[in-house]
Amino acid sequence: MGKHILLLGAPGAGKGTQSKRLASEFDLEHVTTGDALRANKDMDISDMDFEYDTPRAYMDAGELVPDDVVNEIVKTALQSADGYVLDGYPRNLDQAEYLSEITDLDAVLYLDVSEEELVDRLTGRRVCPECGSNYHVEFAPPAEEGVCDECGADLIQRDDDTEATVRERLSVYHENTEPVVDHYREEGVLVEIDGEQTPDDVFEDVASVVDDA
Ligand code: AP5
Repeated sequence: MGKHILLLGAPGAGKGTQSKRLASEFDLEHVTTGDALRANKDMDISDMDFEYDTPRAYMDAGELVPDDVVNEIVKTALQSADGYVLDGYPRNLDQAEYLSEITDLDAVLYLDVSEEELVDRLTGRRVCPECGSNYHVEFAPPAEEGVCDECGADLIQRDDDTEATVRERLSVYHENTEPVVDHYREEGVLVEIDGEQTPDDVFEDVASVVDDA
C-alpha cells in the first residue's frame, strides 16, 4: 500500500513546492485542496446557505472555504488515491477530526518558516496558469522574465498573493491552523523541518522522513 503523508505549514512555507517533488519521486498522488478549489473557483454553492456563493469569494478574501465543501473534495480524492501527499488540509480542528475518520497517516511533517519570509515568498511568487509550475521573482526566477521554463506560457500572480490578502491568510492561519499543528505535536507524531533552507535541502529532510515512514 502507498504511503499516506501529510504536509503542514503556513501559506508560503513551501508545501506545494515540496509536495509536487515528493509525489513525483515517491509515486504518490498530490492531493491539494488549494489547486482543487482554484479549479472549481466558480462552483455554485449558493444552495448550501453559506456567507458567499462561490469558493472564489472566500479565496480572494483570504478566508477558509466552508468545511462541507472542502471535506467532500478531500474524501473523494483520498478514496481514489493509493499513496498520497496531502497539502492544504486540514486547516482547522474540525477538518483534522474529519480526516482522522476517513484515513490514517504514516507521517505528519511541518515546514517551519518565519512570518517575514512567508510574506516575501508569497508576494514574489509567480505561477504558470498552463502547467502549474511555481517561480519566485528573486528566489527561483525563470530563465526568461515572466515566461514559464516548462511550457513557455506567460506567468501570472495569484489573485490572493497581494500583500493585503497575504496578511489576512496569515492571520487565518494563526487562528485556525496553528491549533492543528499543535494537535499533531501533542499527539507526538509531528516532524518539524526547517523550511528556510534551500528547496533542495528542505527536500532532503522531507524525503528522509518519508523514506522511513
Ligand atoms: P492554498 O493554495 O493551499 O494556499 P496556501 O496554504 O496559502 O499555500 P500556498 O500555496 O500559498 O503556499 P505553499 O506552502 O504551497 O508554498 P509554495 O510551495 O507555493 O490555499 C489557497 C486558499 O484556498 C486558502 O486561502 C483558502 O481560501 C482555500 N483553501 C485551501 N485549502 C483549504 C481548506 N483545507 N479549507 C478551507 N479553505 C481552503 O512556495 C511559495 C513561494 O516560495 C514560491 O514562490 C516558491 O518558489 C518559494 N519557495 C518555496 N520553497 C522555498 C525555499 N525553500 N526557499 C525560498 N523560496 C521558496
